[in-house]
Amino acid sequence: MTDSTTLPKKMKAAIATGFGDIDKNIQVVEDWPVPTLKAKDDILVKVSACALAPGDVRVLSGKTDWIQLPKGGHPYVVGGDLSGVVISSNSKKFNPGDYVVSRFELPGPSGALGEYKVVKESLTEHCPESIDPIQSCGLTASTMAAKKIVDQCVNKGDRVLVIGGSGAVGSSVLQYAKIAGAAHIVAVSSQEDLCKSLGADSVIDYRNQNWWQMPEYQTDPFDVAIDLVGGENWEQGGCSGAAIKRKGIYVALPPGVQSEIELHGCWGLVSLSFQWLWLVLWTTLHPKVPRNVMPDGLDLRDGDLREMLNDVVEGRIKPVLDPSGPFEFNNDSVREAFHLQGSKHAHGKVVVKIADA
Ligand SMILES: NC(=O)c1ccc[n+]([C@@H]2O[C@H](COP(=O)([O-])OP(=O)(O)OC[C@H]3O[C@@H](n4cnc5c(N)ncnc54)[C@H](OP(=O)(O)O)[C@@H]3O)[C@@H](O)[C@H]2O)c1
Repeated sequence: MTDSTTLPKKMKAAIATGFGDIDKNIQVVEDWPVPTLKAKDDILVKVSACALAPGDVRVLSGKTDWIQLPKGGHPYVVGGDLSGVVISSNSKKFNPGDYVVSRFELPGPSGALGEYKVVKESLTEHCPESIDPIQSCGLTASTMAAKKIVDQCVNKGDRVLVIGGSGAVGSSVLQYAKIAGAAHIVAVSSQEDLCKSLGADSVIDYRNQNWWQMPEYQTDPFDVAIDLVGGENWEQGGCSGAAIKRKGIYVALPPGVQSEIELHGCWGLVSLSFQWLWLVLWTTLHPKVPRNVMPDGLDLRDGDLREMLNDVVEGRIKPVLDPSGPFEFNNDSVREAFHLQGSKHAHGKVVVKIADA
């Protein structure tokens, strides 16, 4: 086993050399420097697996360069969420040999698709051995966010619509909504069997039908819509108030009205913040439109990750991985994983295996 005394100076890592084109800009190299502990809550982890998320593709695209490009600019190691084994630690909570999971650091993911990563104590938790590293690496961001969204927005007896039910967050939202005691759960997705196996009572295939135009939901509208896709779902559906109760809520991730955030400078941030505030104000005051809500899925408190991992260990929550993974740690496979994540049609987490645990 590697320990701090036998640690190499260089490691294998997937780096981004510029914005945009995945095939041109992502490269797996063999000579990236192994990171070292600096701050008092730093932990050095030997990575077992890395899970991608929409944020990884967003950072690579350059659309949010002003806020999310990693500090040193290009090149940087891609990937945000991981599972692995502690090598050395400045934190008293973690010791060499501990099996852990860790989430990306705000404002944007980087550093996890390499053999080693320094992670923060506040974003890391001990992982029970019964969850294997391929399954556990994606739980800290998407399943945790799903738990928080449902805790904040769904009440017992609610009729719940989940738009994007087969995605990484949606597949956990369906399960948590069931646990929360939702009376009826409808998923919008092309994956009927998967969504039903996760707790959806019925599934609307968005390729054939628009949920906001279906008579049964206009007669018996939803209390809560959780939109993990954006775009016309709000513009045509949420905004019309046709299938959501007058006093219902529309939970939007991505927030606001766009399906893609673009942020290139301070003026962009000001303008986006005003758009969001205006949307919240307008929908709060409007008598016929559900209130547009932006949940906080990323604020981690002590114990949150432990509680979510317990849900998995005790069988209440099943991790969902896209069936084309886990991807191998080489140029072609890592690029393929990024293409799948960027397609917006992954069914569960997109995982790259880095090493045997
Ligand atoms: N992943 C995370 O860790 C995380 C954490 C916090 C917040 N978020 C945010 O949450 C949002 C969702 O993230 P995610 O990771 O769940 O995304 P994702 O896994 O990339 O979502 C892909 C899913 O979206 C579905 N989809 C695509 N177009 C659709 C449409 N028009 N109607 C219904 N479903 C559609 C696809 O199903 P089909 O194949 O059926 O089209 C696919 O299953 C993003 O804004 C993300 O930034 C993500």
